[in-house]
Amino acid sequence: MDDRSWMRLEAEPAEHALPADVAARDPLAGRDIGWVTQMRPFVRHFCRAGGRVLDPFAGLGSTLLAARLEGRDAVGCEIDATRAATIGERFARLGLAPPTVFAASCDTLADGAMPPIDLCLTNVPYFGCRWNGEPVPDQLYGSATYEAHLAGLREVFHRVRDVLAEGAFCIAMAENLRLGDRTLPLAFDLARILGSLFVLQEERVIVYDRAVGPAAPMDARSNRSHEYALIARKRRETVDLAATAALLNALRAEGHRFTVFGSFARWLQDPASVTPADADLQVAPDEAAIDALLQSLARRGFSLRSWSDPVALPLRLDAYRGRHYFRAERIDRAGALVRLDLCFE
Ligand SMILES: C[S@@+](CC[C@H](N)C(=O)[O-])C[C@H]1O[C@@H](n2cnc3c(N)ncnc32)[C@H](O)[C@@H]1O
Repeated sequence: MDDRSWMRLEAEPAEHALPADVAARDPLAGRDIGWVTQMRPFVRHFCRAGGRVLDPFAGLGSTLLAARLEGRDAVGCEIDATRAATIGERFARLGLAPPTVFAASCDTLADGAMPPIDLCLTNVPYFGCRWNGEPVPDQLYGSATYEAHLAGLREVFHRVRDVLAEGAFCIAMAENLRLGDRTLPLAFDLARILGSLFVLQEERVIVYDRAVGPAAPMDARSNRSHEYALIARKRRETVDLAATAALLNALRAEGHRFTVFGSFARWLQDPASVTPADADLQVAPDEAAIDALLQSLARRGFSLRSWSDPVALPLRLDAYRGRHYFRAERIDRAGALVRLDLCFE
């Protein structure tokens, strides 16, 4: 892989293409199945030799095959039992031993069921796809709303984070979608989800040949011959420690009451001990006091979230019971991040 930000998809060698008879009996005729050729450079570049690659949306196993052809172990989760079983058949036809495939959504597997993973590489299911296979629960092709679809993707990548080795990459391929007259920014929303769970690194644009026609004046539609490979990494975010310490002093001087605990408190005691990824503040579960603190942060340009939802002010604390903390984040013009977690339970 070179450092070009776009890649042209080369032809798939016949022996690795999805066999025609397998496509013919698939509910989507294999139209959502990626190319092995597309995935191989990512496996080579982002997974250590002999490492283990996970595809949490394994489909008919193209990513798993790419991993195996590159000498890596392949592990997949595929919610559709027929597709999950077909992966083994595809491998057998190439004289390869079957990969490990769980016929389940990875977020429903018991703790420890999945081995540690060195690279997550996948193409995500698209919202609005007319799936006429088994309508099992957790099948994201059956999501009733776009919001539910994004929530389902979040659940899966949340689990992926648990099983991914520290420092490992999570790479997901996606397009923005056109659904009826509407454009849904699936790739951009997915980038936001990955950015909240991992540290976003880069994107590569993958382009492929598709028939070209004239565009009517004022018609924005393109021939949609590209997708994004969104590249994120599991590692601790670096925060601006001096700016965080200065902010905490300023908040105290304004009269806000909180206790600093966790890694930031340890760093304050001994700067050589740890590098904190945020500052954890314990606050009393007092609606007015937390509201005043959040208002002060909002005035300083912080975004306020509870899990991934924006926090509305004035605060109604009851609406956030069971969520335990509010996250306040701000990135300045130099790219420096300050992140506070306000724990109230
Ligand atoms: C775009 S396809 C993946 C293609 C696959 N990477 C390949 O190239 O063969 C998405 C797959 O995700 C599966 N899927 C949907 N929801 C799922 C879930 N919650 N857990 C696991 N698989 C799921 C679908 O059945 C579908 O096969």
